[in-house]
Amino acid sequence: MNKQGLVFLFVCSLLLCQQLMAAPFYQQQVKQSAPGDKQITDALKQIKEHKDIQLQENISVPVFHHRVDSQKTEKQAVCSNCHHELPHRKNERSRTFMNRHSRYIACETCHMRPKNIDMEYAWLAYDGADAGKKIAARVPKQDENKKDKPEPQFMLVPQAGAKIAPFAGGEPGLVFRGDEFSKKINQDWQDADDKEKARLKARVHTPLEEKGPECQRCHGDDPMLDLRALGASPDQVKKIKRNIIARYFTRFKKDDQRIRIKDLLR
Ligand code: HEC
Ligand code: HEC
Ligand code: HEC
Repeated sequence: MNKQGLVFLFVCSLLLCQQLMAAPFYQQQVKQSAPGDKQITDALKQIKEHKDIQLQENISVPVFHHRVDSQKTEKQAVCSNCHHELPHRKNERSRTFMNRHSRYIACETCHMRPKNIDMEYAWLAYDGADAGKKIAARVPKQDENKKDKPEPQFMLVPQAGAKIAPFAGGEPGLVFRGDEFSKKINQDWQDADDKEKARLKARVHTPLEEKGPECQRCHGDDPMLDLRALGASPDQVKKIKRNIIARYFTRFKKDDQRIRIKDLLR
């Protein structure tokens, strides 16, 4: 190859490199994924068995005592291409909590926890002028924790629709539903037969974990989230760490045990 050819190649690889670096962490991981036979076979089984349920189906799971109105923010998780907005159903004990947490914690915060890289967790706007961008935490007001005032329900959320999301190198580590990469996944999914769907399912989930963190990973002594940086006052940090329901969960041994109010008071 002549000199010009080499220069051309060099420039091309730089451009490619740049493109890869600019892509969100999740996208890079999916692009690099090479699921094994086992993952693909398992996915195929899931797709054949669950053909018409679970995905984007209009089920209603009771969320505490009221129904969550569908929260249509401008930005949506890439996951919502396929998953219902209340995706947790299997675990009867935790599903209401996990679906509730999904309103202020991004799917990826719980399901994408790479071992080789430290994610930073911060607030990400899904709505409004800042949609798609990192936003500042709320500064807790002094009098907010006074006992005579009823406490607002989600004290940390700095603006409607915002979620705690993973960032890598200061950029959101996730992909939104409207992004090109997400549109491509959706199109491929629509066009795919069962076998291709299985491969795609496996690839899309390679960077993900089946289960989220234990309650104690956020509500215990050494939380994975920097609660102060997320806007919690020292008092709120204490409350979150000592959350009685989260504590109660550590006492469960079996998956099908249920919460009873009288046990909470034990
Ligand atoms: C292209 C469609 C598609 C996208 C996009 C997608 N999923 Fe899934 N997901 C599936 C299918 C299909 C299953 C298997 C469901 C079943 O068992 O019925 C699944 C299963 C899962 C499971 C159960 C464990 C497993 O791997 O089978 C989790 C957890 C999950 N998805 C999380 C996510 C999260 C989080 C996102 C977004 C970051 C996401 N998924 C994006 C299609 C998708
Ligand atoms: C606070 C952490 C947390 C968040 C946020 C979260 N999940 Fe989960 N997810 C879990 C845990 C833990 C499980 C394991 C089952 C359980 O305990 O409910 C799970 C299980 C699942 C499953 C398996 C099916 C089932 O019925 O349990 C799917 C699918 C799933 N999550 C998708 C999502 C999607 C999509 C989002 C975003 C809309 C999301 N999760 C947000 C913690 C979380
Ligand atoms: C990824 C971190 C994370 C995990 C995992 C997590 N939580 Fe939370 N949870 C939070 C944060 C942050 C708040 C505080 C939200 C606020 O005050 O704005 C919270 C608040 C709560 C609350 C009070 C507000 C509400 O949404 O009801 C309860 C109850 C709760 N968590 C229970 C649980 C249980 C039970 C589990 C495990 C099944 C769990 N959490 C797992 C981060 C987490």
